[in-house]
Amino acid sequence: MKISVIGCGYLGAVHAACMAKLGHDVVGVDVDERKIAELSAAKAPFYEPGLEELLRDVQETGRLKFTTDVSAVAGSAVHFICVGTPQKIGENGADLTYVDAAMRTLTPHVLPGDIVVGKSTVPVGTAARLAAVLEKNQPSAHLVWNPEFLREGHAVADTLQPDRFVYGVLGGSEDHIAVRVLDEVYEAPLSSGTSRIVTDHPTAELVKTAANSFLATKISFINAMAELCDAAGADVTQLADAIGMDDRIGRKFLNAGIGFGGGCLPKDIRAFMARAGELGADQALTFLREVDAINMRRRTRVVELTRDLCGGSLLGKKITVLGAAFKPESDDVRDSPALSIAAQLQLQGAVVTVTDPKALTNAARRFPELHYEADCNSAIKSADALLLLTEWHQYRDLDPYEVAGVVASARILDGRNVLDPAKWRAAGWIYRGLGRP
Ligand code: UGA
Repeated sequence: MKISVIGCGYLGAVHAACMAKLGHDVVGVDVDERKIAELSAAKAPFYEPGLEELLRDVQETGRLKFTTDVSAVAGSAVHFICVGTPQKIGENGADLTYVDAAMRTLTPHVLPGDIVVGKSTVPVGTAARLAAVLEKNQPSAHLVWNPEFLREGHAVADTLQPDRFVYGVLGGSEDHIAVRVLDEVYEAPLSSGTSRIVTDHPTAELVKTAANSFLATKISFINAMAELCDAAGADVTQLADAIGMDDRIGRKFLNAGIGFGGGCLPKDIRAFMARAGELGADQALTFLREVDAINMRRRTRVVELTRDLCGGSLLGKKITVLGAAFKPESDDVRDSPALSIAAQLQLQGAVVTVTDPKALTNAARRFPELHYEADCNSAIKSADALLLLTEWHQYRDLDPYEVAGVVASARILDGRNVLDPAKWRAAGWIYRGLGRP
């Protein structure tokens, strides 16, 4: 099928490449010339495992093109909207400028019978508004809301083999013509067993925000338990293992630590609260305020623990932060808890060095006042304390005996509870985890 993808950021670039991999003829459109030039040269504008190989692979087939010229979408039967919906500056709500602009520039090129598919995460009610815009310009085109559930670091696999598809169509009926068209787009994953749910526009929009809110709640729940474990001298890791064995609860997303960050969970729960308020249903989501508060409290807690670890004062202490990205296998530093902690420590008088295998360029752009060191060994040299804040495998695998010979003082704070405390203590380290005795 001929497909267009509007917006070639995280979601769009991966989606375009994966659709071409599934055998479709794809054109990706973005206003950012640098991004388009990189993608056209099969270079990923951000770090995502497997993406560059995939781009090379599909561009050789001639099935994938990128352009800044939106008129190139003409002739595509399906148009995916994959632009970002960041948090508004100074407000909790989502900024829909890019979604509205995408719709505005796309509609003049939409032909009768075309399907426009929204994948961006939007406040409930957006699809109805966009459907009206589309109808005014092209009454015989259709709008589907088809939220995306990919995780950064696993984006390619999550797009090629998602665990479910949700199609939101006008009226929510299986018989809607757009259902057949989308089934054709996703034929390969559907035939290998991916489930799909057909529903109406508002339910499809809500599925996405509800899913991210549930994940955020799960993380904040276990972090609240970590606070209790700290107070009671219990071990949150064992607690998570034990409650996670109940398959109604499940062990996934119960890793206590410095909390969640990134370009999705934090802004999505805030946008959800803002939208609930507009709908007069704010009480239903007041618990998300607590989820957000627990999450932000993790960051201050780590600063306090670090002060403690350094003997009561941060002034002049050389602290090395291992990891800057909001999670491993990503160079994304949007709302990264690791960087936010590094910046707070620096403000309180510590001399902070940050290292990360992929995210240093982005980190330096966001926090130019921090000191960055790409080489892990140089970064930890003569440190008074190490803080493991993003659990890249190279930090999980550090040898405590070797590292003890490089630092000035063998003190480590394990912000993700991924190290073996007994092993580090046996090697002479003062080890602190979060919610671990
Ligand atoms: C999240 C969702 O997981 C995806 O399903 C969704 O499609 C995506 O947002 C989106 O809306 O686009 P992502 O932001 O890539 O994906 O990252 P997650 O894997 O959800 O991790 C989010 C944060 O939670 C990270 O900072 C991670 O370190 C933290 N986390 C995760 C924990 O602190 N504990 C855990 O147990 C799990």
